[in-house]
Amino acid sequence: MSNYEKVCKNLEQTKELAARFARLIEDKGCFINLYGEIGAGKTAFVKLVAAAIGVTEKVTSPSFVILNEYHSAKIPVYHFDLYRLENEGVKTITDELREYSEGRQITFVEWAEFSQNEIPFDHIKINVTYDENEARKYSFVGFGQDCINIVRGLAQ
Ligand SMILES: Nc1ncnc2c1ncn2[C@@H]1O[C@H](COP(=O)(O)OP(=O)(O)OP(=O)(O)O)[C@@H](O)[C@H]1O
Ligand SMILES: [Mg+2]
Repeated sequence: MSNYEKVCKNLEQTKELAARFARLIEDKGCFINLYGEIGAGKTAFVKLVAAAIGVTEKVTSPSFVILNEYHSAKIPVYHFDLYRLENEGVKTITDELREYSEGRQITFVEWAEFSQNEIPFDHIKINVTYDENEARKYSFVGFGQDCINIVRGLAQ
């Protein structure tokens, strides 16, 4: 199975999930697309993963700047938010996104649904949905063998 789902009843449980995920990606890196409504918990997850791999800078939402990058951990972390680009703009950076999928780095992309097509390189899709109160469901799907293995690792 390359699917994994976890209901996190509060932020503390999301932190535990983020730490487990961080351990699986911190050596080789990974390209991750985050989906979910406004306020679902996409940026919250990125912050927790970044902290878990050792980013010491303050991690903030890149909604207005489109890309934030962090170089204080053992591998670089890039965090895109494509919300403000919408469809036309996303097309202009597809090639750039591919470059961010290569090499040893962690790249998160929020609001990739504005891109027209499926991402044509290996990546993990995380869908975040509201449950009740502070509960959020994080659903992971891996595309490509390395990413499938990472998602399998979460299930173990
Ligand atoms: N279990 C939980 N997991 C994650 N976040 C939670 C949880 N419970 C409460 N929260 C809160 O939900 C909010 C999620 O906001 P966040 O900025 O991560 O949303 P987002 O999905 O990035 O939205 P946007 O589309 O606006 O970028 C945060 O304030 C966070 O503290
Ligand atoms: Mg966000």
